Amino acid sequence: MAIRPGIFLRVFPAELPQLESPRLLLRGLSLSDAEAFQVICDDPDLAKATGMIPSPYPPGEAARWITEQQELQALGEHVIFVITLKEAGDVIGNLSFKGSDEHRRAEIGYIIGKRWWGNGYATEALTLAIQWGFEKTILRRMYAYCFSWNDASVRVLEKAGFQREGLLRENFYANGTFESEIVMGLTRTDWENQIEEHHT
Ligand SMILES: CC(C)(COP(=O)(O)OP(=O)(O)OC[C@H]1O[C@@H](n2cnc3c(N)ncnc32)[C@H](O)[C@@H]1OP(=O)(O)O)[C@@H](O)C(=O)NCCC(=O)NCCS
Repeated sequence: MAIRPGIFLRVFPAELPQLESPRLLLRGLSLSDAEAFQVICDDPDLAKATGMIPSPYPPGEAARWITEQQELQALGEHVIFVITLKEAGDVIGNLSFKGSDEHRRAEIGYIIGKRWWGNGYATEALTLAIQWGFEKTILRRMYAYCFSWNDASVRVLEKAGFQREGLLRENFYANGTFESEIVMGLTRTDWENQIEEHHT
């Protein structure tokens, strides 16, 4: 197969902006966040839902993960926002985009620490990140994979305007089994139409 030429746009800026919603501030990740993520990620339920977080969570893992994320971010196709409570300043989770400049799309992932679940924070953070992604970057499409049993995450994506696009059966080995994944997607056109509908 011929190798297709890349267009070599950087999907994301080198310097991440701060994004603000009524209750949240999203900002870049720093090593000083390691302590907060060490506590948040030491949770079998988060590990189970993402299939990416080790469980048990080893000492020092958050600092290792932050360094790795910063290296990926330097390449320009990956960004991670720390989700914080605007007033109290607590770190409550994170939201990432894994992009492709050639296809102008990005996979979105997020976690919220369990003690903050059920307050609408994931939906608020996602809504803010979507607006930034479509207004300030070259992205045309965002998508996310949720394990088929993860109704809370599917609900968050639906509330933020994503559509259920399909089911990838037995797509991801995690939790000692081959998890099926629901694909959720949002195009720039969908998003623009939603904004227009909201204003009419
Ligand atoms: C999924 C997650 C991010 C949601 O965070 P959150 O801040 O609690 O989300 P929100 O409060 O914005 O919205 C949650 C929605 O899911 C619903 N929900 C929660 N648990 C549910 C369940 N078991 N079944 C169906 N709906 C559920 C809530 O009622 C709410 O919907 P509503 O506003 O219509 O009532 C959080 O639970 C989490 O971090 N889970 C582990 C990691 C994860 O799943 N990441 C995503 C991987 S794809």
